[in-house]
Parts: sequence; C-alpha cells; structure tokens
Amino acid sequence: MVPAIQVECLAKSYEGRPVVKQISFEVQPGEIFGFLGPNGAGKTTSIRMMIGELPPDGGKVTIAGLSMPADRDRIKSLMGVVPDHQNLYDRLTVRQNLDVFARLHGVPTGRVEELIDLVDLREHADHPTSRLSRGLRQRTLIARGILHRPQVFFLDEPTSALDPHSARSIRSLIQSLRDQGTTVFLTTHYMEEANSLCHRIAIMHQGTIVATDTPAGLRMRYGRPTIRITLKDEAAPVEVPLNDADGARTLAGYLEADRVARVHSQEATLEEAFMRLTGAEWREHETEPPAPEASA
Ligand SMILES: Nc1ncnc2c1ncn2[C@@H]1O[C@H](COP(=O)(O)OP(=O)(O)OP(=O)(O)O)[C@@H](O)[C@H]1O
Ligand SMILES: [Mg+2]
Repeated sequence: MVPAIQVECLAKSYEGRPVVKQISFEVQPGEIFGFLGPNGAGKTTSIRMMIGELPPDGGKVTIAGLSMPADRDRIKSLMGVVPDHQNLYDRLTVRQNLDVFARLHGVPTGRVEELIDLVDLREHADHPTSRLSRGLRQRTLIARGILHRPQVFFLDEPTSALDPHSARSIRSLIQSLRDQGTTVFLTTHYMEEANSLCHRIAIMHQGTIVATDTPAGLRMRYGRPTIRITLKDEAAPVEVPLNDADGARTLAGYLEADRVARVHSQEATLEEAFMRLTGAEWREHETEPPAPEASA
C-alpha cells in the first residue's frame, strides 16, 4: 500500500538554528495521525514543508506517492489544509470565500452549498468573515479545506481557542471524514482530543520525533498508572505509583495502621506520557529522559 504521507529525513534551520532535525515517519491511508509537541517543537514548520509552503533544507516528502515539490500541482488537488492562522478573505462572505476556492479547484457551486450546510453556516453564509466569531471562521476554514474532497487533510490546531461545543463539532467532522477514508494529519495541544481521535501519535520535541505509537501504546510505555489512597484521618488523598515497590510499601503501611478509607487505581494518561517525553517531568524522577526513538 502506498503511504498517504511519507517523510524522510526532513530538516530545516532558521538562521543556523536547526528547528526540524531530520524527521522521518509514514502515515497510512485512512489514518488519523496526531502530531503533538510543546510550543516551538517544530510542528508547524514541518507541516509547512509537507504541504509545499516552505522549502526544506533537506529530506523528502511524498503525498500519496507523489513528490513534493516536483508534483506540487497534482498534490494540491488531493490535499486539504487548515493552517494554524485564519487566512480567509476578511471582506468576502463565507460563500464568496468558498466560491473563490471552488473556482480554483474546478469544484461545482453545488458543492459549496453542500459544505455550508455540512458545517452549519447557512445563516452566516452571506456575512463577511471579518464579522464572524473565531469558531465560525474556523468552520469556514474547514469547509474550504474539504471542498475538493481531499484524500489527505492537514489540520494545524483546528480546535485551538474554541469553546467546547465548537471543538466537539470539529472533532466529529474529522471523525466522519476518517469514516469516509480521508487521511488526517492533525496537530493539537489538547491531549484528550488526540487520545480519542488519533490512531497513532508522533511526539515531537525540540525538532526531533521522540516517540510514535498508538495513544494506548504511549500511555503504557511512558505514562505512569497510580494508586490514589484516601485516608481516614487526612483530607488530601495520597498518590503512589502502581507497579512500584515504594508505592506498595506505602500502601501496606497505611493498611497495617488501619488508616485507609478508599483505594482507587488510575490509568496512565497521555498527558503524563507527553510530559515525560518532552522533558517537563522526567527530571524530577529520573536521571535521564527516555531515549529518542530511532526514526521509523
Ligand atoms: N519564519 C521563521 N523564522 C525564524 N524562526 C522561526 C520561523 N518560524 C518558526 N521559527 C522558529 O522555529 C521553531 C519551531 O516553530 P514552529 O512554529 O514550527 O513550532 P510549533 O511546534 O508549531 O509550535 P506551536 O505549538 O507554538 O505552534 C520555533 O523556535 C520558532 O520560533
Ligand atoms: Mg504551530
């Protein structure tokens, strides 16, 4: 099977400072692939190179077997993009914004009306986008991104700064695209979103991919399940790591002293895995961070 996205040794420096350091990965057709990492990790820079907006210093990108930038025009017709900034024509209405893009891609106007309904913008279709709320503008961007039924859809923080209702409607739209076979490449800072939507996740840190796995795999490998002990004589619960000798001794001590009111086990979270892999937490507990993965 030809990968939907193939990235090999992709690299970029700004003013001599490497910000994307020879990253490699593959995304299979129909996957929702999450690309997570702290601010400044290099996610947007990587996406901009993958969509042909920024020339890489080195490396290779293919989309559905076509090479960027040599086959850029053909790739453009099969890829959709929602950038990290809202680049709509402010003075044009929702419908006019979509019409411009439809004409560029030779999409029939009926499709514009279909999309207006799909993203629930009928009552705002004739409003200039400058007058819309952030969430409504974001829905316009998403409609624009899928107007031409792309095979591969890149979304850079599509739910950033949206209220929970707007974020949820965007997530269910992403899910329905996936159900129709679209490959989705998604960056987000919302761990729960990545956990529930993505088939696989790559975690980027300081220009390098430090882990790639399913959400469950990342939670298991890098997260830490805990036991929460509620004591009879103290208001604040005590948390100890599960599968850890010190934790077991602590719990046994409380049990022997008959101080335990309740014990509750808690699954490892993606957030913990993320924190550990991106260096915020390991320093407190370990002598060195998990080794970066060999690029896959
Ligand atoms: N045009 C540019 N000129 C110089 N430096 C840049 C430019 N664009 C990005 N950078 C730097 O490259 C690094 C990676 O930035 P990038 O925007 O790719 O990060 P990101 O992972 O998308 O972060 P965020 O989560 O905040 O969106 C940052 O240190 C940023 O300051
Ligand atoms: Mg970014």
